[in-house]
Amino acid sequence: MTAVPFDIRPSMGADLSDPGFGIYVHWPFCAAKCPYCDFNSHVRHQPVDQPRFVQAFLKEMATMRRLTGSRSVTSIFMGGGTPSLMAPETVDAILNGIARHWHVPDGIEITMEANPSSVEADRFRGYRAAGVNRVSLGVQALNDRDLKFLGRLHDVADALKAIRLARDIFPRMSFDLIYARPNQTVEDWDRELKEAVSYAVDHLSLYQLTIEEGTPFYGLHKAGKLVVPDGEQSAVLYEATQEITEREGMPAYEVSNHARPGSESRHNLTYWRYGDYVGIGPGAHGRLTTGGAKIATATERRPEGWLELVEAEGHGMVDQELLEREAQADELLLMGLRLKEGIDLVRWQALSGRDPDPDREQFLIEHGFIERLGNSRLRCTPAGMLILDAVVADLAC
Ligand SMILES: C[S@@+](CC[C@H](N)C(=O)[O-])C[C@H]1O[C@@H](n2cnc3c(N)ncnc32)[C@H](O)[C@@H]1O
Ligand code: SF4
Repeated sequence: MTAVPFDIRPSMGADLSDPGFGIYVHWPFCAAKCPYCDFNSHVRHQPVDQPRFVQAFLKEMATMRRLTGSRSVTSIFMGGGTPSLMAPETVDAILNGIARHWHVPDGIEITMEANPSSVEADRFRGYRAAGVNRVSLGVQALNDRDLKFLGRLHDVADALKAIRLARDIFPRMSFDLIYARPNQTVEDWDRELKEAVSYAVDHLSLYQLTIEEGTPFYGLHKAGKLVVPDGEQSAVLYEATQEITEREGMPAYEVSNHARPGSESRHNLTYWRYGDYVGIGPGAHGRLTTGGAKIATATERRPEGWLELVEAEGHGMVDQELLEREAQADELLLMGLRLKEGIDLVRWQALSGRDPDPDREQFLIEHGFIERLGNSRLRCTPAGMLILDAVVADLAC
């Protein structure tokens, strides 16, 4: 096991005690459905009525604003699906709508996900003019054979063109790669990742391929026609990922996310630090404090069903659950242990009304899976990150 030394970097998203307040907007359409993806994304063969969606986004924002009250936003994220299929006017209208409903200070992080195949310079410039200052590109692989296997519509040349454009137009840029692909050796990944780091600006998301139920890959995997690296091989790939990125100055600050110090995704930090965020659009989730209580919101997933609901009722929420303090403590643990900075134990104790079970904690510490940082923080070690779900389950009991 490689011991990756990690420090809490004070530059990370400013104040550790302030989880921030984010706005997430979901664009649920893609040009094609990737065979591994279980995100709420849909392919439509007719043009999408973007002005109608804009009106619905604005209506749902008004409802969410009533729930949150007046607040200052720390980040905005447009995810999908493929938000880069939106016209710049659509993005502009969404961002203006957010600024009419909440306080949006100048210079906050405004991210948009983009697919290399749907990138055009004019549209990128239009997004930038609308206020987007960070783009997250779904590159996924840097060889054409694997891009094809992943069902992507772009090739490496498209990806490099999109990276170049993003670097020219946006102050901040990240891209995603998926590793632990069938037959991928650690040498292959080592080469590809080093090449990726050479193109990176300040942030990289590196995900292990997961076989999600209900996807075409799931069926193939079950039938034995798609074999992915086993646990041991995945661990080797994960450790190589940590070593290379650490050496190259882009260490992990979360299980799958790497940044130059100070360039962590402010928006995602809000999720992992268990802050409040509003979720707008089909299938968006939110966590809001309203009337002193924390609630979980979820909207209708089907885009047209969501539109109709919003038009009739002013929002597409199909679920609003009051989160009891114990449930909040569990969520805080689940999200926070993904971060290298770990969790604020005092906050967790205040929510759960107890200390971590001393025997379980001692066991996890002795086996090198977690560690205490002074009296007030607890985090996973690199070894613990490899078995994160088990660690969370153990501490949550
Ligand atoms: C919701 S997608 C949006 C990005 C954009 N639509 C794209 O694919 O280029 C966000 C990221 O999740 C990752 N992802 C989605 N499904 C995955 C899976 N089954 N295993 C690993 N990573 C996955 C991909 O890297 C993708 O870029
Ligand atoms: S383009 Fe992105 S969101 Fe759409 S299906 Fe592929 S991975 Fe999922």
